[in-house]
Amino acid sequence: MRVALVATVLALAVGCGSSVGAADIAAGRQKAELCVGCHGEGGISQMDNIPSLAAQLDQFIQWQLVFFRAGTRKNEQMQPIVEQLNNDDIRNLGAYYASLPPAKPRADDDPDLSKKGAQAAVGRRCASCHTDTYAGTKAVARVAGQREDYLLKALRDYKTGVRAGGAMAAMADVAFPLSEEEIEALAHYLAHFNG
Ligand code: HEC
Ligand code: HEC
Repeated sequence: MRVALVATVLALAVGCGSSVGAADIAAGRQKAELCVGCHGEGGISQMDNIPSLAAQLDQFIQWQLVFFRAGTRKNEQMQPIVEQLNNDDIRNLGAYYASLPPAKPRADDDPDLSKKGAQAAVGRRCASCHTDTYAGTKAVARVAGQREDYLLKALRDYKTGVRAGGAMAAMADVAFPLSEEEIEALAHYLAHFNG
């Protein structure tokens, strides 16, 4: 069921079988005027619990916008936004944000916590999907340098089932056994990840 739905919505978003052309970054930049108030200038969020989008993966962004639009990912702030987006907008926005440079890594104010996070990431094999640099690939999100408060929220949302996630619900299975202590260490580590 879930796989079928996901396949359908992705086909919609990426325009499989349609005559739509390549993504238009300039059009994406223009459409992103709708987003800047929350996701920040240059896609770098300055607001709690709102993710940065700069350098996020094109495919991941497109999937998430489709999930919001389909209602399989729910968020009160994103809901009225996605209602205004057609498939071309989604494709252009994905290309635009993916083209932006990522946020500069912040100075680590708690290296001991990062060390615990690094150990947890090895133990839980986070890099096996997110890649060794945590820059992600395809529909697997970039998590390196993401806001710590948002990473905390995302991991808690997967753990409690508020967010199911795509790609065969990989993250729900990953997050379920994580302790709150591990979640805090992982979020801190990834937010300050610096190569
Ligand atoms: C009113 C504030 C607001 C506006 C405007 C807004 N967003 Fe969001 N967006 C959010 C919040 C809050 C979240 C986090 C949702 C959650 O916690 O699950 C989010 C999440 C996302 C995500 C998921 C990112 C991730 O790392 O999981 C994408 C992609 C996204 N927004 C794209 C956009 C785009 C593109 C626009 C403009 C067309 C936009 N947003 C406008 C508040 C906003
Ligand atoms: C089996 C592959 C896999 C493994 C292992 C994995 N992830 Fe993920 N992760 C994904 C996928 C796929 C997504 C996108 C899911 C979605 O659509 O919500 C994701 C999303 C995330 C997000 C949300 C990012 C965002 O911007 O919304 C965070 C945070 C995250 N993973 C952290 C981790 C951590 C920490 C670990 C190790 C404890 C881990 N992941 C292990 C596949 C994986």
